[in-house]
Amino acid sequence: TVYRNKQVASVQVAERIANLIKSKQQQGEKAVLGLATGATPVGVYEELVRMHREEGLSFRNVVTFNLDEYYPMQPTSPQSYVTFMNENLFDHIDIERQNVHIPDGTLAPDEVAAFCVNYERQIEEHGGLDLQILGIGRTGHVGFNEPGSAPNSGTRLVTLDDLTRRDASRDFGGKENVPTKAITMGIGTIFKAHEIVLMAWSGNKAPIIKKAVEGEVSSEVPATYLQLADNVDFVLDEAAAAEL
Ligand code: GLP
Repeated sequence: TVYRNKQVASVQVAERIANLIKSKQQQGEKAVLGLATGATPVGVYEELVRMHREEGLSFRNVVTFNLDEYYPMQPTSPQSYVTFMNENLFDHIDIERQNVHIPDGTLAPDEVAAFCVNYERQIEEHGGLDLQILGIGRTGHVGFNEPGSAPNSGTRLVTLDDLTRRDASRDFGGKENVPTKAITMGIGTIFKAHEIVLMAWSGNKAPIIKKAVEGEVSSEVPATYLQLADNVDFVLDEAAAAEL
């Protein structure tokens, strides 16, 4: 779906999330959301915060699982995805902290594998992700599933692509400060979500959106795997859709 600009598109995605939360509330159930970081979903989170403040949208029945976190990473660090999520969403809504899940960047190396198995198990215990939102990196990564990621991959420790670290260098004051690794949900984890929404804004993303939507399905561009899913929407602004 192509919208005039990212503001209009973000409001549509936020409404879709709000409708899911409200319909689960009516059924006395929890809504299980897969959340993303980066600049792309910021407008969606802003709109959800506005709906909470002005329209009384409650997140008490919401459980969240974030896609990824840098490794190693302290949650209190300004660059952590924990800080990002707190500042952009969780500090401004009534979600219960025990319902928030973000991969743990503080684990010792020998604790990571068990953590990842448990992350998958927790998602499954909640009945799976009702809705997973995604941005896309210029390498074609979703979450931090870089080129080479297998379609059935699960939550795991990965090595970041050089381009991804260059794109993150502004946040870290230089590429040399960007962690070389991250913990990310896998392509297989994302595929199990009942619905997937990938968002992209601006001409900067137009070449990778063309590859993701029209290119050959290949591990070289992990977002192309989404062509194989029937429950996925690409939500784009006109600039990101310009090469389609
Ligand atoms: C990071 C995140 C991804 C995100 C990507 C794009 O690599 N791990 O989940 O999609 O950046 O970021 P942005 O939305 O800032 O373009």
